[in-house]
Amino acid sequence: GNKSIQAKLVLLGDMGTGKTSLVLRFVKGQFFDFQESTIGAAFFTQILSLNEATVKFDIWDTAGQERYHSLAPMYYRGAAAALVVYDISSMDSFVRAKKWVQELQRQGNPTLVMMLVANKADLETKREVATEEGERYAQENGLLFIETSAKTAQNVNELFYEIGNFFVRS
Ligand code: GTP
Repeated sequence: GNKSIQAKLVLLGDMGTGKTSLVLRFVKGQFFDFQESTIGAAFFTQILSLNEATVKFDIWDTAGQERYHSLAPMYYRGAAAALVVYDISSMDSFVRAKKWVQELQRQGNPTLVMMLVANKADLETKREVATEEGERYAQENGLLFIETSAKTAQNVNELFYEIGNFFVRS
């Protein structure tokens, strides 16, 4: 039969960048304009059927508020993939995303797949981080890169398909 893969995935990034919204869009097809801030972390699962395999994602959605920072290693330890999320309308969140990448490079496992996720792509008029800036940082650091909108669903399924396919091929 078909190959079955289980993958632990963690979302990291500044508060309010849309981590929970991306997961809810992917898992439930829902989006809320007033999404509550995550406390600690939240756990979701989703199964993705690809041509050559079925991927079961165990998804840890961490809280972006600084006071929860010390909990993060519990969630990224043993993860197969990390999604580092920033908000294209916030340069601060991009700076914070780079800090997460550095932390993962220092302490994460060497086989961890990292993806830089530029969320809120629908907020084009408020954009502070150029697409090329995110892309260049990703390329220089060996990260996958994608621009998404949890609000419009732009590239959200594509994001998880890309991660899923990465595991199928490796
Ligand atoms: P913490 O749990 O505090 O770390 O936040 P988070 O990163 O999980 O962000 P959350 O999903 O709670 O979203 C924060 C706010 O941004 C909410 O009001 C969402 O509705 C909004 N939001 C999330 N994604 C998008 C998006 O793609 N576009 C727009 N315009 N708003 C978004």
